[in-house]
Amino acid sequence: MKTIGVIGAGQMGAGIVQVAAVSGYRVLVSDIGLAQAEKGKAGIAKRLARAVEKEQLTQPDADAALARIEPQGDYAAFAEVDLIIEAATEREGVKRTIFAEVGKVLRADAILATNTSSIPITRLAQATPDPARFMGVHFFNPVPVMKPIELIRGLATSDSTVAAVEAFAQSLGKTVVHANDAPGFIVNRVLIPMLNEAIFALGEGVANVKDIDAAVSLGLNHPMGPLTLADFIGLDTCLEIARVLHEGTGDPKFRPAPQLVKYVEAGWLGRKTGRGFYDYSGPEPVPTR
Ligand code: 3HC
Repeated sequence: MKTIGVIGAGQMGAGIVQVAAVSGYRVLVSDIGLAQAEKGKAGIAKRLARAVEKEQLTQPDADAALARIEPQGDYAAFAEVDLIIEAATEREGVKRTIFAEVGKVLRADAILATNTSSIPITRLAQATPDPARFMGVHFFNPVPVMKPIELIRGLATSDSTVAAVEAFAQSLGKTVVHANDAPGFIVNRVLIPMLNEAIFALGEGVANVKDIDAAVSLGLNHPMGPLTLADFIGLDTCLEIARVLHEGTGDPKFRPAPQLVKYVEAGWLGRKTGRGFYDYSGPEPVPTR
């Protein structure tokens, strides 16, 4: 594999583009328009500049990585790529529409993968041109920092597809884990109930935002408290995953916390909208409740 296509230049997509470009791949990136794809590249330029400042990367290597990133206004050039990774919004309808569109230019020997956090791969495969060349490749946020990649095969995914994507994931310096196509795979099956439970605890008045975060972060030695982490992931994404777990298992233990639903309905999606369980407009995050 030499050329990768990434669909989505948000926090996950841009992270994937960055690690792939730094690892030597030419990377085409698209979003809802060229401007958004360019914005994603501008964010990567800033992060690469910081990596140079910290002497983690040389200036020539950062320049070369940036030059390998090519924002696109449509999918025409994706006909050149060996592997397409879809990292769009965690909505099944959005992903299906993307697969239908990009499927028109997907080469007969190229692979299509999705960075879905929890939507069943076998079901999504039905919207792709060839389920044998489709699988899940789940990165973690922030992508440049987080070590694992979960690989998820659908019922029809071929062995050669898994082998090619595994080789790609390892070439990024990541640790590969394999998960079955079950709701939430491994990490989100464990993580989202914990974040959801913290939100239930907040809603039931067990403690306030700061104390829940301090207690869990210090008490369990986690780098972030659960409400900070939920804001970091995006409350809309947390809710979508909670719903997939709930609907996919039918188990009421996975029902989304009412306050998670309420915050999403309010458009308080966490860091990306500047407000969630914390307000991010000042120098330090301040609890919103
Ligand atoms: N993008 C790229 N790099 C970032 C970053 C970002 N958004 N945020 C922080 N970093 C890097 C910094 O550059 C720094 O790198 P360095 O050590 O090489 O210089 C390193 O991360 C540490 O950053 P800081 O010192 O600024 O801050 P912290 O020590 O507080 O670490 C953190 C920040 C790495 C985000 C840490 O708080 C953490 O690990 N949090 C938990 C993250 C986590 O759980 N992620 C998984 C979410 S679940 C998921 O993604 C699945 C999805 O499907 C929902």
